[in-house]
Amino acid sequence: MLAESLFIVFLGAPGAGKGTQAKLLEKELGLLQISTGDIFRKNLQEESELGLLAKSYMDKGELVPDGVTVAMVKERLSHADCAKGALLDGFPRTVAQAEALADLLADLGKRVALTLYLKVPDEILLQRLSGRWICRNCGAVYHTLFSPPKVAGVCDLCGGELYQRPDDKVETAQNRLRVYFEQTAPVIEYYDRLGLLREIDGTQSIEEVHHALLTAIGEVDCQ
Ligand code: AP5
Repeated sequence: MLAESLFIVFLGAPGAGKGTQAKLLEKELGLLQISTGDIFRKNLQEESELGLLAKSYMDKGELVPDGVTVAMVKERLSHADCAKGALLDGFPRTVAQAEALADLLADLGKRVALTLYLKVPDEILLQRLSGRWICRNCGAVYHTLFSPPKVAGVCDLCGGELYQRPDDKVETAQNRLRVYFEQTAPVIEYYDRLGLLREIDGTQSIEEVHHALLTAIGEVDCQ
């Protein structure tokens, strides 16, 4: 049984498995996944002003400025489908974003219930990013070695075409990791100080990580 509302933050480096796990939990818990990276990519596909602005940062592996990102999340959280809570994937990524999220939720009479930190060493992260394939149609995530599609290049779920993200090429991925350690690692300490952090060993199989996350969520939900 889920609490009245459940806002869960996913933390972890690029390739740690945030998106993979958020998608699994979205189905199982009926909570919406809000991925700031996916929203930026959708805007980019639509060639909106926000998408073109985000592209100039994403192409280099840098973070989109806090003001732009927070305004986008504020707008998304105002929709009725977030009333029960959400799985926040890729946001917050700076301490300023974490503080802004606390304020946004407080204005709605809500709060972050739990932060799930997927810990994975660097060498594994780069291997995961270089083998990742994503469905252009439904966003399902695959990996050449760890979770291959049944037919190469085709989504098992919807038959859509699979593609590789331009920011997964090695130089950009390495910069994303640098940016993560400089700007996002302090967010781990921020939530730890608040007593909201649960660290999960992200090197386990996708199924094992999923079970560990369900256990952690179940403990919070019962409080
Ligand atoms: P975003 O799209 O959020 O990318 P990211 O945080 O870098 O995370 P990834 O999507 O790369 O990794 P993931 O942890 O979701 O891993 P996944 O599950 O796919 O952000 C992109 C850009 O947008 C940023 O660089 C920035 O410019 C901008 N942006 C976004 N949010 C922002 C914000 N808040 N502020 C400012 N700018 C922002 O898994 C990776 C691969 O590994 C897959 O192939 C998967 O199949 C495989 N895998 C997953 N789990 C396992 C496992 N347990 N075992 C084996 N393989 C696994």
